Amino acid sequence: MHAYGDASVLRLDDVEVPAAGDGQVLVRVAGTSFNPSEIGLRNGWLRGVFEVGLPYTFGWDLAGTVVGGGGGFADGDAVVGRVDGGAAAEFVVAEPSGLVRAPVAVPLAHAAALPVAGVTAWQAVFDHARIVAGATVLVNGAGGGIGGYVVQLARYAGAHVTATASERSATTVRALGAHAVHDYRRGAPGGTFDVVINLVPLEEPSDLARLVKPDGRIVSVTNKVEVPGGSGIESVQFVVRDDAEDLAGLVRLVDAGTVRLDVAAERPIGELAAVHRAAEAGLLRGKTILKPH
Ligand SMILES: NC(=O)c1ccc[n+]([C@@H]2O[C@H](COP(=O)([O-])OP(=O)(O)OC[C@H]3O[C@@H](n4cnc5c(N)ncnc54)[C@H](OP(=O)(O)O)[C@@H]3O)[C@@H](O)[C@H]2O)c1
Repeated sequence: MHAYGDASVLRLDDVEVPAAGDGQVLVRVAGTSFNPSEIGLRNGWLRGVFEVGLPYTFGWDLAGTVVGGGGGFADGDAVVGRVDGGAAAEFVVAEPSGLVRAPVAVPLAHAAALPVAGVTAWQAVFDHARIVAGATVLVNGAGGGIGGYVVQLARYAGAHVTATASERSATTVRALGAHAVHDYRRGAPGGTFDVVINLVPLEEPSDLARLVKPDGRIVSVTNKVEVPGGSGIESVQFVVRDDAEDLAGLVRLVDAGTVRLDVAAERPIGELAAVHRAAEAGLLRGKTILKPH
């Protein structure tokens, strides 16, 4: 990214292979994945909150092979993790504290679908919603990158899961474990739930409060949902915290076959601008993997 602006500010450049500093790891990238917050960063909407130097290389999710070991990793190790940008490239330097061994049950490039979306889902389900067996849970926005993991982790926790998804995602969301799927384009689902997990930037987030039982919980990764005073509903909005232990937990569930990756598309990194345009047009669902080769 050479300037803030529309997707035309993105281009593929030839640059030097970055050099790993002391204790850092050089990784040959197998894949990164697109995250929608990239749009806000590229447009400049996040300036003041999240500053980056220009030119900036996208790619927070990393899956690849260590080629310059350090920090407990050796050359040849397959790793997955979170970096502060730079993974939309052939090589990236990473802090070993953000990396874990990649799952063996999925193609290495696909493991890049895990760090940001998967860890956000993990923390939503286990840290913030604190779902217990038998709870009724509504996942709003189950067709997106985070949503597929939330559905599966809520099922894993023993919940009865209702999910909102449009027609293009309904079959996948059901296959990932949702007991019921409601098309959000037809209005709100009926009934009330012990827990609502919201993954959609909403114009009227307070509408969701009507779907939570008294004394229930509502967890949002976008806008905070205001709840009526005296309802006993607890409303939480949170920003994901980098956590390699949570990521390692997810990797274990992927290798156990408990969690599947909802990889909807694979594209070369040279098509990142097209991926941004598709996201802005609402054309993406699930996770999109970007590969350097
Ligand atoms: N708080 C944090 O730390 C944190 C971390 C990561 C991301 N985020 C934010 O979390 C949000 C979700 O991220 P993501 O990666 O899952 O997004 P995403 O993959 O871009 O989500 C796209 C999905 O949203 C669904 N959708 C769109 N409008 C909807 C509506 N009105 N009701 C229900 N579903 C709707 C679509 O589902 P269908 O396919 O069914 O139409 C689509 O598949 C983004 O706003 C992102 O910026 C927050």
